[in-house]
Amino acid sequence: MKRAIALLFLLFIFTGCKAEQSPEEPSLVVGFSQSGTESSWRKHYTDSVINELEKNDYQVLYRNGFLNHERQLQDVRTFIAYKVDLILITPLQEDGWDAVLEEARLAEIPVITVDRHITAKDSSLLTSHVGSSFKAEGNRAGLFVSNSFLNSDLKEVKILELMGSSQTSATTLRSEGFKETLNQPAVLKEDGTTDYKPKMTVTTQLNGNFMRNQGKEVLKEYIQNHDLNEINVLFSHSDEMTLGALEAISETDIRPGKDLLIVTIDGQQNALDKLATGQINCIVESKAEVGWYVANTVTRYFRDQKSGRILPHEIYVPGTVFTQHNLASVPSRNY
Ligand code: AHR
Repeated sequence: MKRAIALLFLLFIFTGCKAEQSPEEPSLVVGFSQSGTESSWRKHYTDSVINELEKNDYQVLYRNGFLNHERQLQDVRTFIAYKVDLILITPLQEDGWDAVLEEARLAEIPVITVDRHITAKDSSLLTSHVGSSFKAEGNRAGLFVSNSFLNSDLKEVKILELMGSSQTSATTLRSEGFKETLNQPAVLKEDGTTDYKPKMTVTTQLNGNFMRNQGKEVLKEYIQNHDLNEINVLFSHSDEMTLGALEAISETDIRPGKDLLIVTIDGQQNALDKLATGQINCIVESKAEVGWYVANTVTRYFRDQKSGRILPHEIYVPGTVFTQHNLASVPSRNY
């Protein structure tokens, strides 16, 4: 009898356990709308996000907007129609998203922007943003340029700014951040003196749309119509444009990195190689290996949703600065 009761007890526990184990839950579906593939930085960014989400058991629906805003809007509408659980967007442009964001809200689908920002009329249409601080990147570039000319013989430092696509936060904030630190007065030293800081002027702004061929084209055109010898600094918003610009400069007798200070943003391997050979003086890193940050935010969203907590408005991805001084400690990368 005792044995029978024990058996019944075991059976109860066993079946009880089974009843509690819900059948395997289906993966949550994340729609990822990418702006395009204008750079190897961007390709790596996309791969990093998709791989990390999949590693964390999300099912990813990916759409490439091929640098077309209308197409990107359509991609997001497809995700809404598919009733995905969450939408990630790297917008090609900041504006023009309100209607589609309203549609996502009506469908109760959260939207998180990654890399670049969206300017929405109602900021509550966006759940969060994961990306580098573009302003801080510009600040770092401006600081490097200022420090490079402290106590120089020049009265004025002339800067050519090679800008990324207009209407993106990457371009506007990098430019803003650059000028902010560029124009700061030299710091007061402990002995009460300050270094001499020449006047810093951005004399020219060209637009290379974050693309290598366009970076080369606009600089070539500039060289045909102006004397590049008069420029002291080339500040470029992306490595691809810098590489294009370097191709254009190679057709002149100007030595990049020596006669012309070259400062770029991103940190692709091909730019690090040019830093090693001295043709680039400074790379402000903007991380493309962001998958962990994005997947972590998505997971936090689903976890916190249950507990009623909300995600921070901005989640920053850290970045650093590479120069000839710390180059040896920079790990190589596959993009
Ligand atoms: O939005 C970030 C920028 O876009 C990267 O710095 C650039 O390489 C890319 O195309």
